[in-house]
Amino acid sequence: MQLLILGAGSDIGIAIAHQFAKAEGAYICLASRSLELLEKKALDIQTRYQVNARAVSFDAIDYAGHPDFYRSLDPKPDAVVFTAGYLGNQGLAQKDFTETRKIIETNFLGPVSILEIIAADFEAKGRGLIIGVSSVAGERGRQSNYLYGAAKSALTTFLSGLRNRLYPSHVRVMTVLPGFVRTRMTAGMNLPKLLMIESEQVAEDVYRAYQSGKDIVYTGWFWRWIMGIIRNIPETVFKRMNL
Ligand SMILES: NC(=O)c1ccc[n+]([C@@H]2O[C@H](COP(=O)([O-])OP(=O)(O)OC[C@H]3O[C@@H](n4cnc5c(N)ncnc54)[C@H](OP(=O)(O)O)[C@@H]3O)[C@@H](O)[C@H]2O)c1
Repeated sequence: MQLLILGAGSDIGIAIAHQFAKAEGAYICLASRSLELLEKKALDIQTRYQVNARAVSFDAIDYAGHPDFYRSLDPKPDAVVFTAGYLGNQGLAQKDFTETRKIIETNFLGPVSILEIIAADFEAKGRGLIIGVSSVAGERGRQSNYLYGAAKSALTTFLSGLRNRLYPSHVRVMTVLPGFVRTRMTAGMNLPKLLMIESEQVAEDVYRAYQSGKDIVYTGWFWRWIMGIIRNIPETVFKRMNL
């Protein structure tokens, strides 16, 4: 497997790279903005698991550069994980559209731009795997992060449609829905410890779901049930809650 990780600077992205290198012997291509750091991470993967690993430059919101970015990859991936993301600042975004735009671009427009290019290649080849890291935040809008949630919701819908479109071409599309994960993104946030998991747990859940042929994976598993409840709270009650 030639696995391309887009937004590989992310704690979850690196954990997924380690998991697939270890368990699958996958060759890894780490793509993100901080090339120097990624080169060190690639070397670490190569040394630990005796697989090829390299780093390339990628900016999720440089839409114009995406066709050349993909064209320049040699070898081409047969599996890709999109894991870049930006939580942003909800309060600031309500006042400053620049922040809103960054949230929507990083979490939605970026993945749409690059994954459509990759989807076309996989579709033509009649094989491939696309894994999109979305969020449970996209399942229902809450006052504390509805702009991030809306972007993730759009990403989840996009991945669903892509899965539906690519099924006849034998291209698999998986949607990953993490809850609270202890990463740089959540550092310093006051989140319930009992509900938090590590990036390595996310990576194991993703790998298990990949092996068992699942389309949608909640990680940790209990978020499937939590979100089932949250989705079913009547709007008349939900709008009064401080979430
Ligand atoms: N942590 C959680 O609780 C949680 C929950 C649900 C979903 N998620 C999702 O899981 C994914 C991974 O997040 P994480 O928790 O691992 O967070 P993280 O460590 O903060 O990683 C986010 C990564 O996105 C990258 N990124 C942002 N904008 C980019 C751009 N324009 N081009 C390329 N890369 C860009 C950042 O790159 P730099 O290193 O260059 O800054 C960073 O490495 C995200 O999509 C996030 O929304 C996380």
